[in-house]
Amino acid sequence: MEKTIDESIQGQALTLEGKKENTRKLFIESYGCQMNFSDSEIVASILAKEGFNTTQNLEDADLVLVNTCSIREKAEQTVRKRLEKYNAVKRNNPKMKVGVLGCMAERLKNKFLEEEKIVDLVVGPDAYKDLPNLIEEVDAGRNAVNVILSKEETYADISPVRLQSNGVSAFVSITRGCDNMCTFCVVPFTRGRERSRDPQSILEEIDDLVNNNFKEITLLGQNVDSYLWYGGGLKKDFEKASDFQKATATNFAKLLDMAATKYPKTRLRFTTSNPQDMTLDVIEVMAKHPNICKYIHLPIQSGSDRILKEMNRLHTRQEYFDLIDNIKRLIPDCAISQDIITGFPTETEADHQDTLSLMEYVKYDYGFMFAYSERPGTLAERKMEDDVPEATKKRRLAEIIELQRQHSAVRHQAYIGQTVEVLIEKASKKSDAHWSGRTTQNTVAVFPKENYNIGDFVMVRIDECTSATLLGEAVGYSKNN
Ligand code: SAH
Ligand code: F3S
Repeated sequence: MEKTIDESIQGQALTLEGKKENTRKLFIESYGCQMNFSDSEIVASILAKEGFNTTQNLEDADLVLVNTCSIREKAEQTVRKRLEKYNAVKRNNPKMKVGVLGCMAERLKNKFLEEEKIVDLVVGPDAYKDLPNLIEEVDAGRNAVNVILSKEETYADISPVRLQSNGVSAFVSITRGCDNMCTFCVVPFTRGRERSRDPQSILEEIDDLVNNNFKEITLLGQNVDSYLWYGGGLKKDFEKASDFQKATATNFAKLLDMAATKYPKTRLRFTTSNPQDMTLDVIEVMAKHPNICKYIHLPIQSGSDRILKEMNRLHTRQEYFDLIDNIKRLIPDCAISQDIITGFPTETEADHQDTLSLMEYVKYDYGFMFAYSERPGTLAERKMEDDVPEATKKRRLAEIIELQRQHSAVRHQAYIGQTVEVLIEKASKKSDAHWSGRTTQNTVAVFPKENYNIGDFVMVRIDECTSATLLGEAVGYSKNN
C-alpha cells in the first residue's frame, strides 16, 4: 500500500469504554505501508478491550508491539535495529514483553524467536483477533506464535482506535492480501490471499469518521481496483457465485460511487491502484465526483515490456500509456505518481532507457523509487539471479530520481498563480505561523495561519514552490466548508 514510511509513530494515550480494569500500558509502533499503520489501529482497539492503554513512552510499556515490514531488506534491518533498542530498555524494565506483528512476523514465523531473544510474541497480519489468548500465554511465561493466514478475515467488525490522528484524515481498509504475484514482491506471501470487505461495514466506518469530524478518508488495499464483494470469499470463486450474488456484487467503482454520493463534503482518496486492474469506470466515477481527489498512485515498476513480463506485471507499456491517456482525457488536472524499481534481474541499459522514456511521456507529479532488493521465497529469488551489480542499480536509481525531481518541479511550478482548495491538516513543520495541508492532487501547500483552523477547506493562491511544497496565501474559505 502505497508508500513505505520510514519514520514510526506511536499511539496516544486513550480511554475507551468496555475495557478491563487492570490497565496495562501498550507501546505500539508501525513501519512500512499505510496498511500497517491502519492495522495497528485495529490491534490497539482489540487490546483496549483487554485493558491496555497506549503510551508514547517506550520506557513505561508493559507490552511493546512493533508492526513490521518485509518489502525490502532495508525495512527488515530497520526493525532489527529497533529490537536492539527494546533490548536496552528491557534491562531497566525486565517485565516488559515484546511482540512482533505484520509482514516480518509472517515471513520469519518461529525463526523470529530463535533469532531475536527479546521477542516473546509473533503474530501475523490475519491473527490479531487471537492476541488476547496469545498474551495470556506470554503472561504465563511461554512464547506465543500465530501466523495463520486467513481467506476471510477483514477485521470488518472492529472499530479502529485512531492512533496519532490529526483528527482530519483517516485510513479505512477495504481489501486485504494480494493475488497478483509480482515476482519481486513478498506481500502475497506475508499478507495472503486477496479478500474484500463488506461494503456496508466500510460505509459504517466512514459514517463514524464523518460524524467525528474527519474530512478526508483514504480507502486502503494492496490492490484497491480489484475490490469485489459478492457476499465474501476469495475473488477466484466469483465464477461459482449465484446469479443473484453476481447481480448484486459491488466492485471498486460502485463502492467509490456509493461513498462519494453519500458523503459529498468528505474528501475520498484511495491507494494503491494496479494498472492491470484499474478500469475506465473507476476513472469515470472519479471525474463525476468533485470530492474524490484528483490523484492516482499508479506504480509502473519498469518501462520495459520485457522486464514487466519478468515481473509478472500483467500489462504492457502501451496499455499503461492508454490508461494514462484515459485518465488525462477524463480528468485533465489529475496528478499521477509512480513506484519504480531499478536493477531487477536481467535489466539492461536499454531497459533502463525504456523506464526513463516512459517517465518522459507521463511526467509524474511524484515518485517512489527503489533499487531492487531480493526477497526470500519470491519467484524472482527462486528463478532469477540478482545479477545487476549494486553500483549499477544505484546509478540507475539516481538517474531516475533526478528525472523525477525535474518533472515534479515542472508540475509544481504549473500551480503558481492558481488558487486551489487546501484541506488544513497541521501546523507546518518549519514554521508555527503557517498551516500545512494538501490539495486535491495530494500536493502539500503551506500558507500563513490567519484565522483558519485545522480541518478547514481553504482557497489558497499559490505564489511560489519548492521541489515538494507549494507556498501561498489563503484568500477565503472554500465552498466545501
Ligand atoms: N500493491 C502494493 C505494493 C506494495 S509494495 C501497494 O499497495 O502499494 C510498494 C512498492 O515497493 C512496490 O510498488 C515496488 O515498487 C516496491 N517493491 C516491492 N518489492 C520490492 C523489492 N523486492 N525490491 C525493491 N522494491 C520493491
Ligand atoms: Fe506486491 Fe504486486 Fe501485489 S507489488 S502487493 S504482488 S500488486
